[in-house]
Amino acid sequence: MYNNYEKQAFVWDWDAFDDTPEYEYWRSYAERFGQNVLVPMCALGQSAAYLAEHGFSVTAFDITPEMISEGKARFGAVGGLELIVGDILSLDLETKNYDFTFLAGHGDLHLLQTLGDVRQAFHSLHRRLRAGGCLALELSLPAPESFCYPKREYQPRVPRYTDKKVWKVNEGRYDAAEKRNYIEQTVHVESAADAEAFTQRVCLQYYERGEILALLKQCGFSVQGEFSDRARMPWTPGQCEWLVEAVKIG
Ligand SMILES: C[S@@+](CC[C@H](N)C(=O)[O-])C[C@H]1O[C@@H](n2cnc3c(N)ncnc32)[C@H](O)[C@@H]1O
Repeated sequence: MYNNYEKQAFVWDWDAFDDTPEYEYWRSYAERFGQNVLVPMCALGQSAAYLAEHGFSVTAFDITPEMISEGKARFGAVGGLELIVGDILSLDLETKNYDFTFLAGHGDLHLLQTLGDVRQAFHSLHRRLRAGGCLALELSLPAPESFCYPKREYQPRVPRYTDKKVWKVNEGRYDAAEKRNYIEQTVHVESAADAEAFTQRVCLQYYERGEILALLKQCGFSVQGEFSDRARMPWTPGQCEWLVEAVKIG
């Protein structure tokens, strides 16, 4: 597997579609807990910048230095936003009183390939939250059957760049025995002077609900709610989309 996030960084914001509803969701969620927000695996830090622009004090981190430097190029002037290179498994941060943190998009946590890594990530986030602070998770639960999804081309809904065209071609397969989703994406970048394509392979590892609940408890979190969508409809068995609201005990 090679994920090529360092190359993705330069075209991460290829689609200029208005994501305000997504950012507003996190703004109003964070507001219930406080002003200090930690955004792990932030890529360029788009949601983090939105929160900072709306008065929050935000630290956002990503393991890929190129993501952070591209993020700084776009959002460096936003007050209240700190963008840093960091690994969720070994986070080195002085501040420890965050009110709210989140792993979004049914993908980020699944980039962690073992339950041991998920435990380490939960420990890492737990140490940075204040007592009563919230960790919000958006996860997918493993599907019972394997499947393939055929090659499909994606064009930006709203092109971001005027000097180049960017489009993506995805294909993948889900292995139910391994509970792994293998995704291969080719990113095409074409300008008047040049044409380039690079491939990104990621594997998303899914976990059973009971495994995640046990880890949250071990790491000092109490689960306050389980939902099937952002409208906070209660989660019921059989639903693959699983949103968890956990707060730090003590
Ligand atoms: C799917 S992207 C994140 C999308 C992001 N949440 C957003 O809203 O744009 C996953 C990101 O996680 C980062 N990442 C992967 N492993 C990480 C780790 N161990 N610690 C911190 N960041 C990590 C990658 O560099 C990549 O930018």
